[in-house]
Amino acid sequence: MKLTSLKSNVIIEPFRIRSVEPIRFTTIRERQKLLGNASWNPFLLKAADVLIDLLTDSGTGAMSSRQWSAMIESDESYAGSSSYYRFETAVRDITGFKHVIPTHQGRAAENILFSLLVRKGDVIPNNTHFDTTRAHVEHNGGLPRDLLIKEGLEPLTIHPFKGNMDTEQLEQTIRETGRDRIPVIMLTVTNNSGGGQPVSMANVREVSRIARKHGIPFFIDACRFAENSWFIRIREEGYQDKKPIDIARELFSYADGCTMSAKKDGMSNIGGFLALNDDALARECRSLSILTEGFPTYGGMAGYDMEAVAAGLYEALDEGYLRYRIRSTAYLGEKLVDAGISIIQPTGGHAVYIDARQMLPHIPPLQYPAWSLTNALYLTGGVRAVEIGSVMFGLQPDGTEKPAPMELVRLAIPRRVYTQSHIDYLAEVVIHTYGQRKKLGGYRIVSEPTVLRHFSARLEPITAGAV
Ligand code: F0G
Repeated sequence: MKLTSLKSNVIIEPFRIRSVEPIRFTTIRERQKLLGNASWNPFLLKAADVLIDLLTDSGTGAMSSRQWSAMIESDESYAGSSSYYRFETAVRDITGFKHVIPTHQGRAAENILFSLLVRKGDVIPNNTHFDTTRAHVEHNGGLPRDLLIKEGLEPLTIHPFKGNMDTEQLEQTIRETGRDRIPVIMLTVTNNSGGGQPVSMANVREVSRIARKHGIPFFIDACRFAENSWFIRIREEGYQDKKPIDIARELFSYADGCTMSAKKDGMSNIGGFLALNDDALARECRSLSILTEGFPTYGGMAGYDMEAVAAGLYEALDEGYLRYRIRSTAYLGEKLVDAGISIIQPTGGHAVYIDARQMLPHIPPLQYPAWSLTNALYLTGGVRAVEIGSVMFGLQPDGTEKPAPMELVRLAIPRRVYTQSHIDYLAEVVIHTYGQRKKLGGYRIVSEPTVLRHFSARLEPITAGAV
């Protein structure tokens, strides 16, 4: 008798675990005290007091034995180290860009690029600027413009590529602003602030066509390029049989350069790069990187960091890994949807985004419903998430406050760190908190810095006892 192979629905982690790190259980009373001491800001908690840490997928992934072994063999020479050349070869192989400038993380690449390109009053179109990108544009006097398609702002609308840029709005922005006031067009893949939603290849191609027609440089914010490539493969006509690496290569081929945080799809704990084709701009970028990052063949990274990234970029493109990664995020999303919780749909690549405005209609936007839910998740189950709402985006450059377009709580999943049972527990925590949603109250800000306030603002619950 012929045996058949099991077709399992279980999401098996495509790795074995050989090194473990304990996590700490706390009681709700302890967590209440810990969060109060952290001024009700989860960024100010000690990581050791968190059971499941979903603050970010950035730099929090587990590295492979191959990455660790490459790190042991690193070359720490100041100039021209072989680790740099391995890094450069990997980045060039995947992106096709001529010049590769290492930086200590993504925002350092943004700093170099925007310091050189952006002048006061310039307009920078993007599908959605991530907070550091927005801050760098504004720091240089530029005006960030988010030109996301309208479906991208509707949490429940199902669309395969909710990260797409509205190319008509792009054309209109260029017409109104004038080509000379637009030094660069950016596209963020996947669109982190808009729900980790992918951008289609067709959209990348169209943005590229428009940028070239007007002679405007086109750069990709490539943090999650591998996850985006996987979405193209499973959702876009004509890519089903293509390897993720070839999809990534095509995606980069339409751009003039990219900024990259290797802490995401570089599978590394630190690192990044700026890669580009323009020789003259690359020369200027290298000069500036010497000032702010280091010599151009290490740029703020140790040789071993560059080794980790060189290996990690390929691991992020592994088919088995990407299938598990995207499927396990979707699994969490499905559990929450089945329980009646509103999330951005379809689920993104690196995170599930809960729609807190929908869940907590009794908390006004400027009493920060998504912040309230984030704190409640920590209190009920020791889970640390991040608010992407009016605390993160509400403060305007002139000091006034305005509600953010969406009030989201992001559950970002670190790469290769948590197992299926962690994900099941996490779903239980969110569902349990949802059951108590009417008890949640708003927050007020007690003190805040002038930029990127969510990192260090101090808050307090508006109604004592309502947390
Ligand atoms: N661009 C995007 C789309 C990002 O998500 C991030 C970081 C950056 C740029 C900046 O990179 O942190 O290496 O300087 N996102 C992290 C997050 C912090 O939690 O989503 P970085």
